[in-house]
Amino acid sequence: MTEFGGPEVLRLAELPTPEPGPGETLIRVTRAGLNFGDTHTRTNSYVQKATLPLVPGGEVAGVREDTGERVMGYIQWGAFAEKVASQLLWPAPAAWSAEEAAAFPVNFFTAYLAYWKAGLVDSSARGKRVLIHAAAGGVGTAAVEIGKILGVETFGTSSSDEKLERVRELGLTHGINYEKTDYEKAVLKATDGKGVDAVFEMLGGEHTNKSIRCLADFGRLVQFGSATGKHPEVDARMLYVKSTSVHGLWLSVLSRDERVMKPAWERLSQWISEGKLHPVVGQVLPMGKAAEGYNLLGDRKNFGKVVLKISD
Ligand SMILES: NC(=O)c1ccc[n+]([C@@H]2O[C@H](COP(=O)([O-])OP(=O)(O)OC[C@H]3O[C@@H](n4cnc5c(N)ncnc54)[C@H](OP(=O)(O)O)[C@@H]3O)[C@@H](O)[C@H]2O)c1
Repeated sequence: MTEFGGPEVLRLAELPTPEPGPGETLIRVTRAGLNFGDTHTRTNSYVQKATLPLVPGGEVAGVREDTGERVMGYIQWGAFAEKVASQLLWPAPAAWSAEEAAAFPVNFFTAYLAYWKAGLVDSSARGKRVLIHAAAGGVGTAAVEIGKILGVETFGTSSSDEKLERVRELGLTHGINYEKTDYEKAVLKATDGKGVDAVFEMLGGEHTNKSIRCLADFGRLVQFGSATGKHPEVDARMLYVKSTSVHGLWLSVLSRDERVMKPAWERLSQWISEGKLHPVVGQVLPMGKAAEGYNLLGDRKNFGKVVLKISD
């Protein structure tokens, strides 16, 4: 990208191989995960402003150039390329395809850390209630899978009955089509007016206050996005009415802290080895069709992760 804007700013270009910095490893990229954050970066509406020229993309599946080991990696930028230098790498599970490995880092760390921020990663999570917005999306499907393992009762929103049906197969307890039903009313009705213990909120605008109203006493809202393009609106008075709280989550910051990432990976890798996690790959596109992938996310047409095929 040499400019910000619509899909037309995405171009294929020949660039020099990146030089790994201290602690970084050079990866030959086979697949890359496309995230909603990449759509913000393209239009320069992301919380972290990017500098041009830019190779976009934040997560990969590939092969270490030094050892030949199959890995999954997370980086701030540079993933939509044949080679990338990355500091944060994890071994790709042998049973997973390259597409599944590329669909893991952002979705599963973000979803796990949302439960962590909500105080729901130990045995006390069992029987708790969590509202997951965009439950059929990348982070959403990961949050549903993790919720099932933790024994959480999950409420998920989506614009489509068909998508909700597919998420139910992953373990979603209650699906709410927000095009047909007001999710606040649906949550309060299903919980006898009590509300949920946590909301994973990534829409922004009025949805933040609306989601706070879905919380039970002492509930926590985890704000981690603003897909509507609007700033999250928080009426702080509503927090003390039920002694609730709002927490922020940004993987870019948390990923720099080993005290956060190490225990998260220990837990996630345990579940992977037990065959409990299955990254959901909705669509796979060649890199030359990356713009179509961005449109799938913006037009709410994706299910789970959109993956770009970079090389064999
Ligand atoms: N803070 C962090 O570290 C972090 C990390 C990863 C992701 N995120 C954020 O988490 C959210 C989900 O990311 P993702 O990559 O997993 O994307 P995604 O959920 O796979 O895709 C976005 C989905 O959001 C739903 N949606 C609802 N309102 C929308 C709107 N106004 N415009 C577009 N989509 C809308 C659509 O699903 P339905 O049609 O089913 O409603 C759409 O498919 C994004 O806001 C992203 O920025 C934050």
